[in-house]
Amino acid sequence: MNQIKTIGVITSGGDAPGMNAAVRAVVRTGLHYGYKMMLIKHGYTGLINGEIEEADFTSVGDTLQRGGTFIGTSRCPEFTTEDGQRRAAQMARVFDIDAIVVVGGDGSYKGAQALSKQGIAVVGIPGTIDNDIASTDYTIGFDTAMNTALDAIDKLRDTSLSHDRCSVVEVMGRSAGYIAAQVGMAAGADVVLVPEEDYDIDRDVIGPLIETRNKGKKHFIVVVAEGVGMTEQLSEAITKYTGVEARPTILGHIQRGGTPTLRDREMASRMGYYAVETIRAGRVNRIIGFRENRLVDYDIDEALAMSKSMDPMDVEISKILAQ
Ligand code: ADP
Ligand code: F6P
Repeated sequence: MNQIKTIGVITSGGDAPGMNAAVRAVVRTGLHYGYKMMLIKHGYTGLINGEIEEADFTSVGDTLQRGGTFIGTSRCPEFTTEDGQRRAAQMARVFDIDAIVVVGGDGSYKGAQALSKQGIAVVGIPGTIDNDIASTDYTIGFDTAMNTALDAIDKLRDTSLSHDRCSVVEVMGRSAGYIAAQVGMAAGADVVLVPEEDYDIDRDVIGPLIETRNKGKKHFIVVVAEGVGMTEQLSEAITKYTGVEARPTILGHIQRGGTPTLRDREMASRMGYYAVETIRAGRVNRIIGFRENRLVDYDIDEALAMSKSMDPMDVEISKILAQ
């Protein structure tokens, strides 16, 4: 594996603020150590199609402060088939790519695992706003997305306070409630709903809101993770059963964009650097993570077998502070 001379970098799945900083760090660290560096455009789709170009020092200039991913990303159903994976590996060989650093979420890691089985060395960097990757405590994009959501909820608070209304805000997270739980706590939400828990609308939403209203509160914030869904219906039910006018807001993709925060740029820079150091040390088919305040790397099969669960206290704290 120390024969590696050319390293490709790819961003895959949902874009996340800080991905550019990760690509920049991988490319610049690789160039520093004398590797030939290649940018693979548009995720696994671009790998299959050969949308690949060599990177020099300037290719990644002026990117780390930008949101999105300047090399593009994709969801590539073709790559989930063995034929697609074989073609992708073949294309990597056409460009003499020995190793690929994949910046993405769990789905992208499974793709990387498939590539490793096709003989292409891989290293994964966690990039998703959801923070739902088991092999790391932190994923690139999480902090920016949470700050975007928090800023939006603070604004909604101004108007719901002025009108004595309830803002029902849906934040991203199809299968994970990390954004909802942490933003809910920081925004002073009265109710936080995450997909990891089952809910009873009377017990968990209407009841607590009425109780809080009876203590004299006139405006409310309910934070709902995307995976819980039914945000509009929930808002209608709140209006009907509490007598407080509720308005739904779905924040959606604004949480995926924008200038990455210091934390995301810093984590992305560290992880990008560490990914190349891992390859340099002869460790491949690894996944980079951040555990107990330090960078770590795990075997890709082990990393994908790990599980992660939310601390129920994160939601509990919001409940206690709201009552
Ligand atoms: P994320 O990486 O953010 O979780 P996705 O789940 O959409 O995003 O995965 C990104 C891409 O990774 C998919 O479009 C697909 O090409 C590839 N991928 C996902 N799951 C698999 C799998 N089980 N095997 C191979 N490739 C996969
Ligand atoms: O993985 C990040 C994420 O933003 C999830 O929270 C969300 O469910 C999903 O991506 C939506 O992705 P898209 O709208 O691109 O299909």
